[in-house]
Amino acid sequence: MSITKSDIKAVLETITAPGEGKSLMENNNVTNINIFGDEVMVDVNISNPTLQAKKKTETEIEKAIVAKYSTAKVKVNLTVEAKKKEEAPKSNPNLIKGEKIPGIQNIIAIASGKGGVGKSTVTANMAVTLQKMGFKVGVLDADVYGPSMHIMFDVAKAKPISVNVDGRSKMKPVENYGIKLLSLGFFTNPNEAVIWRGPMASKALNQMIFDADWGELDFLLIDLPPGTGDIHLSIVQALPITGAVVVSTPQNIALADAKKGVAMFQQKNINVPVLGIVENMSYFTPAELPENKYYIFGENGAKHLAEDIETAFLGEVPLVQSIREAGDVGHPVALQEGTPQEVAFKEITKNMAAELVKRNKDLPPTEVVKITTMSGCSTK
Ligand SMILES: Nc1ncnc2c1ncn2[C@@H]1O[C@H](COP(=O)(O)OP(=O)(O)OP(=O)(O)O)[C@@H](O)[C@H]1O
Ligand SMILES: [Mg+2]
Repeated sequence: MSITKSDIKAVLETITAPGEGKSLMENNNVTNINIFGDEVMVDVNISNPTLQAKKKTETEIEKAIVAKYSTAKVKVNLTVEAKKKEEAPKSNPNLIKGEKIPGIQNIIAIASGKGGVGKSTVTANMAVTLQKMGFKVGVLDADVYGPSMHIMFDVAKAKPISVNVDGRSKMKPVENYGIKLLSLGFFTNPNEAVIWRGPMASKALNQMIFDADWGELDFLLIDLPPGTGDIHLSIVQALPITGAVVVSTPQNIALADAKKGVAMFQQKNINVPVLGIVENMSYFTPAELPENKYYIFGENGAKHLAEDIETAFLGEVPLVQSIREAGDVGHPVALQEGTPQEVAFKEITKNMAAELVKRNKDLPPTEVVKITTMSGCSTK
């Protein structure tokens, strides 16, 4: 059973801190609740400074939550501050969703339409390339169906720790190769299929965005799940995305889905600029015949699509075994200096950055979409 914030609030309604008179919820003692899988973090502020009062409050919270959810791992961050009873609760960061995230300059969404075309591979290698170019980079794995970034960055067993930022518990992204990473993969059991309902998924994503200590970033890359469903809508609702990169193979069926992906971003009331299209698996080159190119999925399909829809063609990535191997062992191929694959990702990343500079010069910041009906994407 998944634990929700309202369940925890209900539990906290039953607890009163010594000397406060009203329950923790009624008395605005609870300043923040974060839930990541089984981990429940509760920030509480009480006015009674005695050690006994602090211990009693902490223990009661832990006991009451575990009594209801036996698997819950509870962390109470308790502070003491004599405050006026009528003081307003500290603002919930989820309430400011949609506003620019302080410290994050550019948010780039990597999307496709069709599954398995290489979004995650492009995200990982673009992140590595941007980092090598000297930028501060974060990656958010928003693939609620099959998160993979934690594997591609060789941190599958890592767990983000919680840190205290200005009195609030925040999740600290895991870091490897100089890149900060948060993935739903950190909070799910790899052997269990996780079925996320839309609202649950968007809540989890909101937490990884707003309840995380990303610090200063030049780029936050978001690896989207395949398709154009409600997860995508949740993300454009929650975040001012600076631009989108669409990945496709040259195959007709992938191109048709890529076109839908582009159309989603370009809808009048979503209006996220598409920075360009990356063609992945453009041709196959066997390791023993490096000069040979086999156009397994067709030739130049994504290039033609980019021309058709008047968006930039950012470059092509060949289908080579080393790219797949590098992804599987968690050492993105762009880390291998001087290889043709590294050069390909450098080219693509530079083209993306050039389009981004144009975009930031020509267009106002992306507004966040307020979608009031599932079918309509109606108001802004
Ligand atoms: N250019 C390439 N050459 C060889 N293998 C590749 C290439 N691009 C991607 N792959 C491999 O293809 C598989 C699918 O790639 P990836 O996971 O990046 O796609 P995706 O679009 O993110 O998939 P999903 O829709 O499931 O999220 C992975 O095993 C990856 O290593
Ligand atoms: Mg993926």
